[in-house]
Amino acid sequence: MSVQYKFPTGFWWGSATSATQIEGAANEGGKGLNIWDHWYKTEPNRFFDNVGPESTSNFYHLYKEDIRLMKEIGHNTFRMSISWSRLIPTGRGKVNAEAVQFYNNVIDELIANDIEPFVTLYHFDMPLELQEEGGWENREVVEAYTDYAKECFRLFGDRVQKWFTFNEPIVPVEGGYLYDFHYPNVVDARRAVQVAYHTMIAHAQAVRAYRTFSFEEGQIGIVLNLTPSYPRSENPADLQASNRADLFFNRSFLDPSVLGEYPAELIDILREHDQLPVTEQGDSKLLKEGIVDLLGVNYYQPRRVKAKEHLPNTDGPFMPDWFFDNYEMPGRKMNKYRGWEIYEKGIYDIMMNLKENYGNVESFIAENGMGVEDESRFIVDGEVQDDYRIEFIGGHLKWLHKAIEEQCNVRGFHMWSFMDNWSWMNAYKNRYGFISVDIETQKRTPKKSAHWIKTVSENNGF
Ligand code: BG6
Repeated sequence: MSVQYKFPTGFWWGSATSATQIEGAANEGGKGLNIWDHWYKTEPNRFFDNVGPESTSNFYHLYKEDIRLMKEIGHNTFRMSISWSRLIPTGRGKVNAEAVQFYNNVIDELIANDIEPFVTLYHFDMPLELQEEGGWENREVVEAYTDYAKECFRLFGDRVQKWFTFNEPIVPVEGGYLYDFHYPNVVDARRAVQVAYHTMIAHAQAVRAYRTFSFEEGQIGIVLNLTPSYPRSENPADLQASNRADLFFNRSFLDPSVLGEYPAELIDILREHDQLPVTEQGDSKLLKEGIVDLLGVNYYQPRRVKAKEHLPNTDGPFMPDWFFDNYEMPGRKMNKYRGWEIYEKGIYDIMMNLKENYGNVESFIAENGMGVEDESRFIVDGEVQDDYRIEFIGGHLKWLHKAIEEQCNVRGFHMWSFMDNWSWMNAYKNRYGFISVDIETQKRTPKKSAHWIKTVSENNGF
């Protein structure tokens, strides 16, 4: 079949998900508690329809069927995460044999189906005991994470060749320490900065540890949510606002991950406002050692900004928002269910930025997706007719294709997500999957987009 947008041979077609969002079985198989189990227990009202993480999409029991469906819709790769509190229930010490068995089964089943497993070590799910020691604020937790990472490499590194230390490490910083949408619901920028810094140190230690193993073809990286900043206008004040937003929300993790150091401008701002983290001797060298082999890019939405309309209240808590206002561009296209702007060209802009300013680091789209509420409205003959999702993916793929034509070093495209899953505080409000999941019966049913992506993968284009 002739296709208009052909992708390079060997392109990765797949999807991503995370342990807490699909496994379920939160109180089975010897799993310890993590912050989500704990937060739900204490404040179930914070979760949409009071649905918590205990059973989610039941991948723990249905993984074989799910992997069969992945195969059926043309996946050649799939990113999952390991639940730290399942593997090591209290965060450090004894490894849970049932968890080892489960992850071995999943990895082996994927490989048997010619689907390469990509594995994330940390996707928002701190073991509760370690959070009680201060979580990422405590440098000892960095050591516990490094031991956990080594254990994963030792147990699964013979078969897993793509590792990711963190998924969207800025999200727990924003959610847990600035904007109150993750546990522990703190609002304190200095603590946020410390958490962010220790996360990068943990990343670099895990990368260093991985490289002491001699796996022949393995690569290690990180997955970052990059939200390109677009200024309202070319006015210098708007440009400065956009530059600042970019420093806080993109370059804070992108620069250390790919260049091995923090942007000087960001350090200056933090110093000026007395928000610098505590560091240790040797950290700069360590960060250099943490430069990634492979960068996963999650792209959902752009960030539009303008110069501040009013001076910030400097008696209030220090916030990145002291330096810019969000800008609602007239006529912007919205996914109103999630409240996120849809801007397909953003994916191209990110890739060009990586090419021009980040050494054209090897990368792939690790997440892109569209969460829609009440998809049962769109069911015809038992199948969700999610034409909006097909249009969303196609629109992004066209721009990704253009980036590839312009020599961007991008190796694949993973959607969020394979099947409907539990979206943190939004629980099952917005559905993201190619496969719909009935949360009462756990029945899986492919949507129209599942058939579409199968042909895209088979034709390596569309
Ligand atoms: C990314 C995360 O932020 O976006 C996922 O890696 C998340 O964990 C996804 O589920 C979609 O966002 P949300 O908040 O709608 O689930």
